[in-house]
Amino acid sequence: MDELQIEGKVMDEQRQGEALMIETKGLGAGRKLYVESYGCAMNFSDSEIVASILGENGFETTRNLEDADVVFVNTCSIREKAEQTVRKRLKEFNKTKKSKPDMIIGVLGCMAERLKDQLLEEEKLVDLVVGPDAYRDLPDLIQEVDGGRKAVNVILSKEETYADIAPVRLGGNGVTAFVTIMRGCDNMCTFCVVPFTRGRERSRDPETIVNEVKTLAEQGYKEVTLLGQNVDSYLWYGGGLKKDLKQLSEEEQGTAITFALLLEKVALAAPGMRIRFSTSHPKDMVDEVLFTIAKYDNICNYIHLPFQSGSNRILELMNRGHTREWYKERIDRIRSIIPNCGISQDIISGFCTETEEDHQDTLELMEYVKYDFGYMFNYSERPNTMAQRKLEDDVPTEVKKRRLQEIIDLQRDHSHYRTKEQLNTVRRVLVEGTSKRSKEQLYGRTPGNTVVVFDKKEFKAGDFVDVRIDDCTSATLLGTAIGLADSPA
Ligand code: 5AD
Ligand code: SF4
Repeated sequence: MDELQIEGKVMDEQRQGEALMIETKGLGAGRKLYVESYGCAMNFSDSEIVASILGENGFETTRNLEDADVVFVNTCSIREKAEQTVRKRLKEFNKTKKSKPDMIIGVLGCMAERLKDQLLEEEKLVDLVVGPDAYRDLPDLIQEVDGGRKAVNVILSKEETYADIAPVRLGGNGVTAFVTIMRGCDNMCTFCVVPFTRGRERSRDPETIVNEVKTLAEQGYKEVTLLGQNVDSYLWYGGGLKKDLKQLSEEEQGTAITFALLLEKVALAAPGMRIRFSTSHPKDMVDEVLFTIAKYDNICNYIHLPFQSGSNRILELMNRGHTREWYKERIDRIRSIIPNCGISQDIISGFCTETEEDHQDTLELMEYVKYDFGYMFNYSERPNTMAQRKLEDDVPTEVKKRRLQEIIDLQRDHSHYRTKEQLNTVRRVLVEGTSKRSKEQLYGRTPGNTVVVFDKKEFKAGDFVDVRIDDCTSATLLGTAIGLADSPA
């Protein structure tokens, strides 16, 4: 196993491979669509946009592949393993297609641009390939396929944010939802394929974000996660595409909406909801955001702050734009401005030229922070990235694996340290559903994003419940409900 997620943010895993169907009138009349999503939360959010666009064209949903007329896989390219999983799935779909020749199979998302020729022409695994900025074109592309042609649109856009599209909430728990606030990434971390698969960074009109959150609140949702590859560089000043606050004139700066201001707007618009966000970038995370989190009770005390490596030499090779000292200072600021803030990480083990000393620097930084949980990966070389072009993937697989195991083991200790810290305290939990282990128990999360399991009693999904923490594992808190609460924190 070359990657592992310490439990605590099980949402993505639970939703992974989730199947959805949409039936419609018009182009979609009588046809059913099945969408499977892989990879990050952004992909799941994109599938909801796709569902909305096709819903407008009359398609309806089903969760059953055998019933589907159109099958989409929303793909991930971030590591080689993710691509292999998708490819395997496409082959399985093609087996189903043998008994149902009219079935359309399409690939959406991050694998589209890079693998379009291979998937369409060489392996003939799909009829349709659509990149993340071309979903509005889907009805036309489906029509092309209906006419017997293969259809492709992988053009990346500098403007598309799907701001006006109301996502159809797919397969969720009715309690928590994602709202995309920006698309693409301009950071060019040397290991990362995202700037190539998702294109240039652009922010979404804040008014449409606030309206979407308000609608979710009206529909009974209790938590929203604002999504972007680098939320700290969110910037809106009336529709322009300049991305750095410093590039704006004084007048523009006065009216610009930064991420801190957006967070505030959302927190005020939905006081009964919990607000989360992901992902923060250490080089761009400013104190203003931390003060905003501290100021509003309904913004969760939790920050996902990837650090990738603890070695300054490796951080430089990764083009991360910050040092370990800078990162530690940011952690110190979080801890001083937001007491009890949950913090999680992303780490890459065995990046090009990584030595034992670099690896020790990573372990030392982990020791400094003692993260609540994290997402840890072996380095996977991705085509066309700067690392692939300029650096050698020279850390032997065995060494990568051993180092990753050490990182995972240390994280498990730290997670346990953090869950034990919460013993005998009372935590406010937003209930997300019934526990996987027992129908008599519910699970939910603390503001710091730790999973809590407790006996159901009279409580239900969507409730805020105060829970006394009696016991814990490294990933989960076990408690006793002491009463219903009337606010998110
Ligand atoms: N290899 C391994 N992990 C990667 N990530 C991004 N690109 C790669 C890669 N080529 C990880 C980073 C990032 C997370 C979303 O995925 O840790 O923060
Ligand atoms: Fe990839 Fe870096 Fe952008 Fe994250 S910030 S999506 S790791 S390029």
